[in-house]
Amino acid sequence: MIVKIPATSANLGPGFDCLGLALQLYNSIKIDINRPFQISLTGTYQEGISTDESNLVWQTMCRLWEQLNYPIPTVALTLENHIPPARGLGSSSAAIVGGLVAANILAGAPLAKLELLQMANALEGHPDNVTPALYGGITLAVSTDDGVQPRVLGQGANLKAVVLIPNLRLKTEKARGILPPEVSRQDAVFNISHAGLLIDAFIREDYPLLKEGMRDMLHQNQRSVLIPGMFETLKAAEQAGAYGTALSGSGPTLIALIPESSKNEVCQSMLTMIKQFGVEAQAIILDIDHCGAVSSGE
Ligand code: HSE
Repeated sequence: MIVKIPATSANLGPGFDCLGLALQLYNSIKIDINRPFQISLTGTYQEGISTDESNLVWQTMCRLWEQLNYPIPTVALTLENHIPPARGLGSSSAAIVGGLVAANILAGAPLAKLELLQMANALEGHPDNVTPALYGGITLAVSTDDGVQPRVLGQGANLKAVVLIPNLRLKTEKARGILPPEVSRQDAVFNISHAGLLIDAFIREDYPLLKEGMRDMLHQNQRSVLIPGMFETLKAAEQAGAYGTALSGSGPTLIALIPESSKNEVCQSMLTMIKQFGVEAQAIILDIDHCGAVSSGE
């Protein structure tokens, strides 16, 4: 069996810890049952990923089986990683969601997707990456007394993303640690209204609204000190034709949502600008993923 999980971009500007979208860039987990325990790595990113029992995918699978009282099977895993780790593209969410989806299928699929979302949220700590990783598309995750309620807002028809991935790692814990514990009423109102505008833009596919809709006052200003040239690079993307721009998750990746026609100009202008700040980076043009995590071959 193979489970394929998309990269994700969380926050999308004002939607701190609740908005996100899935991208057509994937990690996959291949599971061979009744083999001696082994974890092998392939793909673009292998460095720093453990291949013993502390591996996040394996740990997550074991958590689900323990919760179900299902005997832990002996399996060999092959992890093919194309989502860069610690860059703000949801690599740990992909590991958690992929582990849960795979373990659930191996146990006979007793849990519904919504139940997997609750577990993924509890393991990850915030729902804005795990929701699009499970459901695909552009998503809103609403934390309620009954758990996380997922809403798929749209599929981003005719929308593409440029992700500019700086050659620096930034752990979410560090990027959260610099945020103040309290926000002003003025900033809260700013973000509530802008998140509303952003949701309206996605539902109506009215993308010129993204420019204003993706503005934020809750986290991007503080985090810009960790990413040289962040605002200048986002601005360069808008001047080159992007609809709207944001820090991807907690960074350091920057995301520009664009019409197909501006993809080359946006890539080039972002790369040129961030380079002026001494940052090496890679730009990738991606489509929105519509499916979320999928399995095949079971
Ligand atoms: N929303 C999180 C943050 C990152 O900005 O810290 C993704 O879960």
